[in-house]
Amino acid sequence: MKAKTYKPTLRNLRYLAAELRKGELVAIPTETVYGLAANALDSSACRKIFKAKQRPRNDPLIVHVLGLEQAEQLADFNPAARKVAKKFWPGPLTLVLPRKACIPRIVTSGGDTVAIRAPLHEVARKLLKIARVPLAAPSANSFSYISPTEAAHVTDGLGARIRHVIDGGPCVLGVESTILDLTDPNNPRVLRPGSIGVSALQKVLGNEVRETSGAKSQRARQVAPGMLAKHYSPRTPLRLTNAINTRVKEDTGIIVLRRPRSLAAPNIFWLSERGSLEEIARNLYRVLRHADKSGFKEIVVEKLLAEGELAGAINDRLKRAAAKR
Ligand code: TXA
Ligand code: MG
Repeated sequence: MKAKTYKPTLRNLRYLAAELRKGELVAIPTETVYGLAANALDSSACRKIFKAKQRPRNDPLIVHVLGLEQAEQLADFNPAARKVAKKFWPGPLTLVLPRKACIPRIVTSGGDTVAIRAPLHEVARKLLKIARVPLAAPSANSFSYISPTEAAHVTDGLGARIRHVIDGGPCVLGVESTILDLTDPNNPRVLRPGSIGVSALQKVLGNEVRETSGAKSQRARQVAPGMLAKHYSPRTPLRLTNAINTRVKEDTGIIVLRRPRSLAAPNIFWLSERGSLEEIARNLYRVLRHADKSGFKEIVVEKLLAEGELAGAINDRLKRAAAKR
């Protein structure tokens, strides 16, 4: 198998929607990261996702829909869930809710809840409209590797194992969606931080939102199994540091947050021009992948000291990337 990359023309999207309905996999752009999509109502199609990604079966998939109406056919919405969906969809917010019977077991890893989101990316939305089925789609990378934010990243990692990749350009946000568990609307919990932060959610929900993404409890492990493993990681050992020393050895890749003022050496990479968090998020995975491919013994990344929602999401990814296997 060798992946073919398609431009998102109407003709191509019609063909690929038909492929999805036939049970094929298609890698799709979203505003967060690229996803590896299958018809969420077709368990044998969803099984192919786990195989292509080499993803353990106990790590459930996110189901992508056009909006609330379609989502309500797949999960039991409570008023709180409707409220946040109306506010943040389409967009980078995934809701965990009790599943309905039409969702195959493989999608939820046998659990009673399903994760759902409505992506904002125009190409993903067009495809959802034409295919007229919900799409299960985890990030389109090999399990535990860095998520893809460009079509070429998908081909690089999964090109030998899938047939179709849609090139929708680089992802605008660059970090995965915020996952909010609203199974119990009185106890909303963020399982994975993203660009939609706790305070924005609290404002809409009107009650306290807890963040449990770092939790090591047994319960947390059951709730989001994929969240505790080493994740988003390059193959080269990665270390976070407060004090970047740009004069270190050439066999070390150095990633700094903002463009250095003086001319940089070939082992120095930067994530943004002026330190904007949006830009850091957008460039993070591309730069990590690039540094990972450059043959360094180690990659050292400058710690992000900023506080706040998006900073929290970026730090979460960096910590996981640095975690020992
Ligand atoms: O931005 C995103 O969310 C991207 C794009 C493609 O939409 N998708 C993505 O999917 O990041 P993935 O599979 O790489 O991460 C999904 C996470 C996993 O850690 C999984 O454990 C968790 O969502 N998850 C899925 N279903 C769940 C459920 N029912 N309860 C709790 N966590 C769940
Ligand atoms: Mg992933």
